[in-house]
Amino acid sequence: MHVARLSLTDYRNYARAELDLGPGATVLVGRNGQGKTNLVEAIGYLATLGSHRVTGDQALIRAGADAAIVRALLTHGDRELLVELQLNRQGANRAQLNRSPVKTRELPRYAHSVLFAPEDLAIVRGEPSVRRRMLDELLVQRTPRLAGVMADYERVLRQRNSLLKSARARGLAADKLTTLDIWDERLVALGSELIDQRLALMAELADPLAAAYRSIVDADHAPGLRPVLSIDGADPDDERDGLEVAERPDGADTRTRFTEALRLLRPKELERGVTLAGPHRDDVVLLLNAMPAKGYASHGESWSFALSLRLASAELLRRDSTTGDPVLVLDDVFAELDRLRRERLAVAIAGFEQVLVTAAVLEDVPEPLIARVVHIEAGEIVDGLVTASGAADA
Ligand SMILES: Nc1ncnc2c1ncn2[C@@H]1O[C@H](COP(=O)(O)OP(=O)(O)O)[C@@H](O)[C@H]1O
Ligand SMILES: [Mg+2]
Repeated sequence: MHVARLSLTDYRNYARAELDLGPGATVLVGRNGQGKTNLVEAIGYLATLGSHRVTGDQALIRAGADAAIVRALLTHGDRELLVELQLNRQGANRAQLNRSPVKTRELPRYAHSVLFAPEDLAIVRGEPSVRRRMLDELLVQRTPRLAGVMADYERVLRQRNSLLKSARARGLAADKLTTLDIWDERLVALGSELIDQRLALMAELADPLAAAYRSIVDADHAPGLRPVLSIDGADPDDERDGLEVAERPDGADTRTRFTEALRLLRPKELERGVTLAGPHRDDVVLLLNAMPAKGYASHGESWSFALSLRLASAELLRRDSTTGDPVLVLDDVFAELDRLRRERLAVAIAGFEQVLVTAAVLEDVPEPLIARVVHIEAGEIVDGLVTASGAADA
């Protein structure tokens, strides 16, 4: 798929903007703070229903405005779809498909994109939550229904945590908490589905990840993904809370292990007032040559891993999607990379239907990607499509 036209109203620093885009590569250039990332962030929002930079929508609405509107004309083969999203300062957001109202969470069915950003280094070096989020965003793009499961899980988790906290406050014993059992069942049902979905996704990512890494590095460092599950006693956030590995029921299915983990952890949970096992506390160890990339990999290797994960994600979306290729967005990424990685990345993404690149200076962008350049200045698109030779397109 590709975005044929993007219109923004009161989005971030854009009062109004219209941008025609074509398939192939387009580079958005402008000094820092002019609105390049804002523009591509809007496309990412349609695909993931969130910004990669902030949680919550308030910051996306232009200061002083009550609502932001992101409208995109999407081309899927010979089909055109108009998707529109209104982010409201107050009240629920609204979405339209071809001018008819749809649920907001339907939008990711039509808009697929994979964003590469400087923040991606945190996938390798950052906290487990960054890796969980990477996996979950990809899950939602592949299976939009899971957005509902994730929201339900979060809700059950919050309820269960507040029950644990109030039980702690009232000094209730673990076996006096029959209401907790009901929440446990919900937590296990929803959480087990998410755990199994993430495990299946990691397995599917393995081959495309290896291929992507080879294309960026030209060496086989055997990149791999090793799930770390809190229901099996691992706790990436706090070692002390782990179950004894010896206690873990081997070979049982996810639900059984999850239920058993909650049983074993209940006294500790009452003490702490939080839920200690479930997908919200899982992690995935990124391996290079059988060692964790976090802590071992060099800066360059860490970047290669992060890029490879994004490329592999794009490959999976392309492979099993009815909408064709996802739109690849490379936000300020080339400035972070050495020359060789830049060139190899440019080759790796060349086959995708649409690639949007942002950069402060054109010199950072590999030559083959500079077919069309759009200049951005202070929340305005100062020129439309300009070819590499400098002549404006008709
Ligand atoms: N809600 C908002 N209302 C008005 N301006 C905003 C809003 N959010 C961000 N901005 C402005 O957008 C600019 C940053 O744009 P950004 O796209 O990140 O720049 P860059 O071109 O460096 O990628 C900053 O000047 C910031 O103040
Ligand atoms: Mg930026």
